[in-house]
Amino acid sequence: APDIAVANVTAHLNQLQSIATANGGTRASGSAGYTASLNYVKGKLDAAGYTTRIQNFTYNGATHANLIADWPAGPTGPTVMLGGHLDSVTAGPGVNDNGSGSAALLEVALALASRNPTLTKHVRFAWWGAEEQGMRGSTYYVQNGGAGGVESYLNFDMLGSPNPGYFVYKDDAAIQKVFTDYFTSINVATEPETGADGRSDHAPFKNAGVRVGGLFSGAEGVKTAAQAQKWGGTAGQAYDSCYHASCDRYPANVNTTALDRNSDAVAAALWKLAVGDTPTPA
Ligand code: PHE
Ligand code: CA
Ligand code: ZN
Ligand code: ZN
Ligand code: ZN
Repeated sequence: APDIAVANVTAHLNQLQSIATANGGTRASGSAGYTASLNYVKGKLDAAGYTTRIQNFTYNGATHANLIADWPAGPTGPTVMLGGHLDSVTAGPGVNDNGSGSAALLEVALALASRNPTLTKHVRFAWWGAEEQGMRGSTYYVQNGGAGGVESYLNFDMLGSPNPGYFVYKDDAAIQKVFTDYFTSINVATEPETGADGRSDHAPFKNAGVRVGGLFSGAEGVKTAAQAQKWGGTAGQAYDSCYHASCDRYPANVNTTALDRNSDAVAAALWKLAVGDTPTPA
């Protein structure tokens, strides 16, 4: 799997911050900042050769949008799907939540396009709208047949928390192992994510019978002394003290080491599941 250049991921985050700044400080679903975020991601994907589509839906009287991107090479059958929500809360720019997952997914998608490896699965990416209103975009997608053919769905919501933990969803043992094997290879300890169920866009896929997994660097939860011992950072403080706040900004609210490791783990998992790769240290 490629070593994802974190500088490329943070460049996307810088753009998402600029988009928020230009649009009243937010990228909330249904707002101009969301549309600009979607257009930024879509433009990069289109230029790289992805087949993209915007799926509009209405919720609470407003129009929202998901961005779906299929990689045109490889088999058309069983699909490995990777996604994360592109919307922020109204209160802030949403750089860690979830510019971080959105930017990592974009850079991994671009890496797939540039490497163009022989694939064993179809690969699809999604950037969801209206997660912050209750996972409305991913729920709409699944309710309208989107889970059909999806063998595995990997979710990335918060990958660069400033006081990071390294949490791996434990929904599916095989997918969990793909991620933990990667972190073992770079000598980073992980913990199973216990509180994620029902809290992000993997939930509708799981409820539809799809194998799901994902990564999480922590939100409002507080880092323990034992966690600070193995991961560094500050015990007794939240993983992300700017969670859902106006201070969730670039660059202050992003830990680039966590973002780098997690971005590399996204690539490692994609290559493992859709290329048939073995994880290599990055
Ligand atoms: N979905 C939550 C949010 O966007 C964050 C979260 C992700 C919490 C995964 C727990 C597990 O605010
Ligand atoms: Ca890297
Ligand atoms: Zn959130
Ligand atoms: Zn989130
Ligand atoms: Zn879960």
